Amino acid sequence: MDTPSTGYLRGFYSLERERGEPAELTAEGQVPPELRGTLYRIGPARHDIYGDRLAHWFDGDGMVHAIELGDGPPRYRNRFVQHTAHVEEDAARRRLYGSYGTPAPGGALNRFRRRKIRRNPANTNVIVHDGKLLALCEGGRPWHLDPADLSTIGEEALGGALAESDATFSAHPCVDPSTGELWNFGSSFGRQPTLHFYRWPPGGAAIRTATVALPFPALIHDFALTASSIVVVATPMVTPTIPLALMFGQTSFGEALRYKPELGVYVGIIDRESGHAHWHRADPFLCFHIANAYDDPERGEVVVDLCAYEDDGFLSIAFEVMRGPIQTGTSGQIRRLRIDRGGRPVRSSTLLRHSFEFPRVLDDRITQRHRIIYGLTWDDPRGLPRRPSAFDVDTGELTRAPLVENEWAGECVPVAKAGATSERDAWLLSVVLNAAADRSELQIFDGADLPSGAIARIPLPHVMPFGFHGNWVASAEPALTAQ
Ligand SMILES: [Fe+2]
Repeated sequence: MDTPSTGYLRGFYSLERERGEPAELTAEGQVPPELRGTLYRIGPARHDIYGDRLAHWFDGDGMVHAIELGDGPPRYRNRFVQHTAHVEEDAARRRLYGSYGTPAPGGALNRFRRRKIRRNPANTNVIVHDGKLLALCEGGRPWHLDPADLSTIGEEALGGALAESDATFSAHPCVDPSTGELWNFGSSFGRQPTLHFYRWPPGGAAIRTATVALPFPALIHDFALTASSIVVVATPMVTPTIPLALMFGQTSFGEALRYKPELGVYVGIIDRESGHAHWHRADPFLCFHIANAYDDPERGEVVVDLCAYEDDGFLSIAFEVMRGPIQTGTSGQIRRLRIDRGGRPVRSSTLLRHSFEFPRVLDDRITQRHRIIYGLTWDDPRGLPRRPSAFDVDTGELTRAPLVENEWAGECVPVAKAGATSERDAWLLSVVLNAAADRSELQIFDGADLPSGAIARIPLPHVMPFGFHGNWVASAEPALTAQ
C-alpha cells in the first residue's frame, strides 16, 4: 500500500471500468446552483496493456470523463477513446504499438519495423468546438466523440486541413473571442522541424494558415495568441546525431530526447495574418504551458507569462511515476518575458519563485492581458502539483487552498461566477485524488477564497487516474442540447 507521502501513486493505476450509462452521484456541501453544465476531463487511464506496463505517464490510452451538474443529482460517465491502437490491441489482447516513452514491443526485428509507428493515445485535452467534442493529443489528429454518451465517432481531419497521414494537432488550441475561431498548431519532425498553424472558424472549414521552420528540434506543447501574433516558445530537445538505438527501436523517442539548455530558448512571434516569423533568443528554461500572452503596443512589446522549470527534472519524473515513487526533484517558477518587436534582447523576470503548473485564466485562455493565473502549486520537489492556487501577477500575491494530507488536486478549471466583476469571481472545478478514501472527488473552490478550502465535494465511484486537461461546457451551449 502506498504511504501517505506516496499516495499519489494510486493516480497512476489503470482504470478499465467504463460507464456509458451515467452513474448518479451525491454532492457533499453546497454546489453553486448556477453551475449547470458538464465538466469534461481527459487523461491516460490504461497504463497496462494486457499486463504490459507502459514506461511513461504520457503514453496511456485516453479516457474521457463527463460530470454533469444541474437539475437533480450530479451524473458521471467515462469512456475510452476508441483510437486505432486501443481498438487493435483490444482485438489482439496484447500491446502492438510503441509510444512516446515506450519502445515498440517484441524482438529487434519487430521493433525496427514498427519504430516509426507510434500510438496517438488521445489523452491530453478535451474541448468542444463547432458543436464537436474532440479528444486531443499532440501526437496525432483529434478524435471526434459523441457528447451524449462519449462514444467515439472517428478521427477528425478538419475537412482536409489535416489530410496527411502524419498530421498532428496540438492539445492546446486557442479560441479568439472576437471571432470564435479556433487556432492551433501541429509539429512536423524530420530533417527540418516545422510548425503548421491552423484556424478553424465556427461553422466553416479549417485552413492551414502558415508553416514556420523551427531553429532546432524543440519541445512545444503549448502556444499563445495575442491580438496581433501567434507566440511559440521553443525549448531545445534534440536526439543524438545518429540515433542508432532509436532507429533500431531499442529505445523510445522520449528516452532519446535530451534537453540542450546551451542552445537557449527561442520565442517565435508570428504575424497572425502574414505568417511571417521573428525568433528571439532568451535565457534557457523548460516550459510546457503558457499562462498568458498579450500585446503591449505602448512599449512595442509582446508579453508572455509562463510556467518555467530551471532544470529538466520533470522529464525524468514522468518516467519514474510509472515505476514507483518520484526520485528526481525539480523546481519551477512563473516567469515573464518581454519580447521587443524592434529586436532588443528579450527581458526576463521571475514573477513567482514557486513551482506552479496547469495555468488557466478566466474566460478566453489567452489573447488578452489577465491578472489572475489559476493553477496548482506543490512544495515537495519530489512530489506532484497538488494545491489549487491563484497568483496575482500585479501584486505578486499567491493564495492557496489548504494542503490536505492524501489529496492531490488536478488542473483547476475556472468558471466565471454569475455577475462576475473581477477575475477572482470564479468557481474552480478540480478532480482531486483522495488516496485515503481510494477515490477521486470533484471539488469546487471559490477563487476569491481559496484558503477556506473546497465548498463542495462530489465523490466519484472510483479513482480517476491523473489526467491533464479539461473544460467546462455550460448547459446552454449547443454541445449539450443532444443530451
Ligand atoms: Fe498541457
